[in-house]
Amino acid sequence: MDGRSITEIRKDFPSLTLSANGKPLVYLDNAATTQKPFRVIASLKDYYERSNANPHRGAHYLSIMATEAYESSREVVRAFINAWSSREIIFTRNATESLNLLAHSYGMTNIKEGDEIVISILEHHSNLIPWQQLAKAKKAQLKYLYVDSEGQVKDEEIYTKITDKTKLVSITHISNALGTVTPVKRIIDFAHEKGAVVIVDGSQSVPHIKLDVKALDADFLVFSGHKMLGPMGIGVLYGKEKLLEAMPPFLFGGDMIEYVHEQETTFAELPFKLEAGTQNVEGALGLKEAILYLEKLGMDRIEAMEKELTAYAFERLSELPIIELYGPRDLSKRSSVISFNVKDVHPHDTASIMDAYGVAIRAGHHCAQPLMRYMNLNATARASFYFYNTKDEIDIFIDSLKNVRKWLGYGS
Ligand SMILES: Cc1ncc(COP(=O)(O)O)c(C=O)c1O
Repeated sequence: MDGRSITEIRKDFPSLTLSANGKPLVYLDNAATTQKPFRVIASLKDYYERSNANPHRGAHYLSIMATEAYESSREVVRAFINAWSSREIIFTRNATESLNLLAHSYGMTNIKEGDEIVISILEHHSNLIPWQQLAKAKKAQLKYLYVDSEGQVKDEEIYTKITDKTKLVSITHISNALGTVTPVKRIIDFAHEKGAVVIVDGSQSVPHIKLDVKALDADFLVFSGHKMLGPMGIGVLYGKEKLLEAMPPFLFGGDMIEYVHEQETTFAELPFKLEAGTQNVEGALGLKEAILYLEKLGMDRIEAMEKELTAYAFERLSELPIIELYGPRDLSKRSSVISFNVKDVHPHDTASIMDAYGVAIRAGHHCAQPLMRYMNLNATARASFYFYNTKDEIDIFIDSLKNVRKWLGYGS
């Protein structure tokens, strides 16, 4: 574990020293994407300077270097989530592509008319629309696990909605809109009892907590590199080997084949069967460096740092009568995403005013329109922390928030 102070850790991130609108940048939009350490940025430059070639295809030195870079990244991802084999790690562009791959390949093959697909009302559109479209195409039924007023999935929803007809459950581990941590292990165990396969959307959990696919017994796990210090354009689909083995390819083309004849093709082994076309080697390498950085700092320390920040921010926000907070009150059931509104102020105004103070937050429906509708909300403002944020930054965030209503002409 890396025992360095937060001041030292922040020096690893060039963008954390930026100014925004003449103020020191306070970056609290980490659920959208995270900032990148020097180590990740350097790996991209280094790749193009020293190892760039098309991997898997060439017998020459540079192609072998690129292949090694790409495949060593796959092994680092495997170890990070404790998968059995690197054959179970498929590189995609992002979590969205991983979910679309699953809907097309696994879903189109295995879901039949009358089957049930279960998701939760918390889902990001990326884990909703692919299943909605699949259900339409297959005349299957899409069912939702609903949440209580704090955005917590209710137990009775799990035990009544998942039935013998359920063939697939796709559930977020942590909600990007409310910060809810879902009872994913309970859902997986119960769905397995019913014979259903479970996909976990780890976009908001893999960057923040130690996730072990063996312990969780998830059938599939998806996440994006850019939310965990890595570059954009690289994502991961983990799947149990026997499930991936039985899936047809999603995209067809170069590098995913064994033999191609005029009328027939046989496909390559895993993981290549599911990775058509030239790979994003630099993205995979950047993700590898990001994971090595996270592991050096220690996922336990990262979780502890974020818990402390979230508790502090929650306490300070709760002191402000002008703030409405959404999501779980119980800090053990929430992540470092805090959704809120300033009374009588549209969240877009809140975010624009905060921007004048150099504070970057998100406002809107957070790609979760059905959730917003269900919670009777139009939109919320959202602050989301990563381990490199500080209590001083939270103080700036709170002080800026106190000024939002004044900017709009309210007395206090
Ligand atoms: C829970 C969740 N799932 C899926 C996604 C989609 O991620 P990406 O846009 O990187 O594919 C996001 C992005 O915010 C998310 O928060």
